[in-house]
Amino acid sequence: MQERTSVSDIWTRYEDGETLTMLTAYDAPIAAQVDAGGVDMILVGDSAADNHLGHDDTLPLTMEEALSNTAAVDRAVDDAMVVGDMPFLSYGASMEESVENAGRFMKEAGADAVKLETAPHGETTIEIIDRLTELGIPTMGHIGFTPQRMHQIGGPYIQGRGQTTSAAADELVETAERLEEAGVFTIVLETVTEEVGRRVTEAVDVPTIGIGAGRYVDGQVLVITDMLGLGGEAFKLSKQYADLDSEIESAVESYVDEVKGGEFPAEENTYDPLPEGPDED
Ligand code: KIV
Repeated sequence: MQERTSVSDIWTRYEDGETLTMLTAYDAPIAAQVDAGGVDMILVGDSAADNHLGHDDTLPLTMEEALSNTAAVDRAVDDAMVVGDMPFLSYGASMEESVENAGRFMKEAGADAVKLETAPHGETTIEIIDRLTELGIPTMGHIGFTPQRMHQIGGPYIQGRGQTTSAAADELVETAERLEEAGVFTIVLETVTEEVGRRVTEAVDVPTIGIGAGRYVDGQVLVITDMLGLGGEAFKLSKQYADLDSEIESAVESYVDEVKGGEFPAEENTYDPLPEGPDED
């Protein structure tokens, strides 16, 4: 069996000064293409809730949905590390439940690592991460704008803006340092000013993976639907590398026109009766 990217591979690439890449994926066909494209890590994000399942935010995603998405991605990926994103309240209520749920990502869904969002000075989550890493579950931290806390934060606001020397920016640096102590192998840094991204990156010796965190971080992550132009909005923090909405709409229009116009199916799409032998494709 082919070995996928491991924590030590990520560390080697980081120490060699390589900028790390991560994209989200929620199903097998997209994950296969993301893997073939050469990313280091694939995050089976809880952003599946709003980007794949039609919810307004990430909160409704269930453990069973997250595990099913992760297992689909696991089946399609040969090279990249597969990171399962723990859904809202699948961790935090108790240590036992948190450990059990994190373990399910690895034992049942084939994830290579898990990711947990952490509030500023979020000691409960930091203790859980400490336990997970002690038990051998590679864990990715996630600080800055943490969408699972959106209702508490009040919206997708830029964290640390205009406050580079402020308590908010200091809190993010301190939280990153605590996550490093707890044993995370990478930290996602979401929607912070470029200065905060730089400060956190300088403060810790684990790779920081930015989304809307500017240029001075160790790697980048984007949500796949945003970067492919697939039902997504155009966000300032993202970049659209394709326009799949238009591609899909025009393919569907062609199909409808051809079926209604009698062009599809054509003779080459039909089956002749065969006396024997395997079915044609
Ligand atoms: O779920 C997700 O897509 C994420 C990324 C924004 C990092 O957590």
